[in-house]
Amino acid sequence: MKIRKNNLAIFTTPKITVYLIHDMPSGLTNKVILVTGASGGIGSAAALAFNQAGAKVAITSRRKEKLDQLARQMKDPLVVPADLSSPEQSVDTIRQVIEHFGRIDVLVNNAASIIVTTADTVTPADLLQAFSTNLIAPVVATQEAILHMRRQGGGHIINIGSPGFMMGIPFYAPYVCSKAAFSAWTRTIQAEWSGTGIRISEYFPGYVSTDSKPESRIGEVEQDFLMEKKQNFITKKFTHPKTPDDVARDLIHLILKPKLLMYSDLSVRIGTFIANFPKIRLSIASQMAKTARAKRNLMPHS
Ligand SMILES: NC(=O)c1ccc[n+]([C@@H]2O[C@H](COP(=O)([O-])OP(=O)(O)OC[C@H]3O[C@@H](n4cnc5c(N)ncnc54)[C@H](OP(=O)(O)O)[C@@H]3O)[C@@H](O)[C@H]2O)c1
Repeated sequence: MKIRKNNLAIFTTPKITVYLIHDMPSGLTNKVILVTGASGGIGSAAALAFNQAGAKVAITSRRKEKLDQLARQMKDPLVVPADLSSPEQSVDTIRQVIEHFGRIDVLVNNAASIIVTTADTVTPADLLQAFSTNLIAPVVATQEAILHMRRQGGGHIINIGSPGFMMGIPFYAPYVCSKAAFSAWTRTIQAEWSGTGIRISEYFPGYVSTDSKPESRIGEVEQDFLMEKKQNFITKKFTHPKTPDDVARDLIHLILKPKLLMYSDLSVRIGTFIANFPKIRLSIASQMAKTARAKRNLMPHS
């Protein structure tokens, strides 16, 4: 029997199992792909993997030195430093891609502002920052990109969502609220542009271990600060991190075979299902709040 999983081919007989690692799937050759938030984590890994699979890749984010560092490992990339919380810069990024490559086939809306704060003290400025980067930036970039995609006869928008909003992740209100709105936007355009040749995909990563440093208003926090050291079987399963390279491979498959929604693994799919049961959802999320409070010495209402 032959099973294929990402870039791993597994052949099994009752007595023997053979694992063959084959190359990244080809098929991205000459596709023009813009990856936002490419200065670290998932965005960097995805941009590099797309480029290695033959795509012409444009990368954007604020930290130019990180983009340049990544660009040195890539073949003929376009580097566009930009602060995407500005709608003008977001639109201009697409224009620069068109000016340079003459087209855009795939837009990966990956950049995200991640602010850690308490619900009691979250400010309008925090919410505005999160909504500007996580919702308005991809909205205006998409509107600009589809003008060219329609002229080209098609294109693909990939929105990197965050299923955490369904659970209600404590201390991440600006992030989860903006990601909820982003998912709503994704689903709205899936409906409005259905059958128009513009494909819209949503990707739900789950927990991916990156060097992501949230902007914290409650002192320095680690990416896993909501998680307990001692975990039971279920939380261990749900919080076992994937790597940015795992996500990059998924995204290549998503480009080659577009889907409306792709989960990084079964545990994420199960997590989003469980989120429909209010008592279970609350029990998991309030445990996270308790863990975070203990780590940061936060009072229940601070
Ligand atoms: N890692 C996870 O566990 C996880 C889970 C669920 C969903 N996700 C989603 O996956 C995506 C990537 O996550 P990650 O862990 O790789 O995050 P990350 O390492 O924190 O990367 C975020 C990227 O966004 C860029 N960015 C932030 N604000 C920006 C702005 N105003 N203008 C331009 N770029 C900006 C950052 O670059 P600069 O600082 O250089 O601007 C960085 O490249 C995000 O959409 C996130 O919501 C991740």
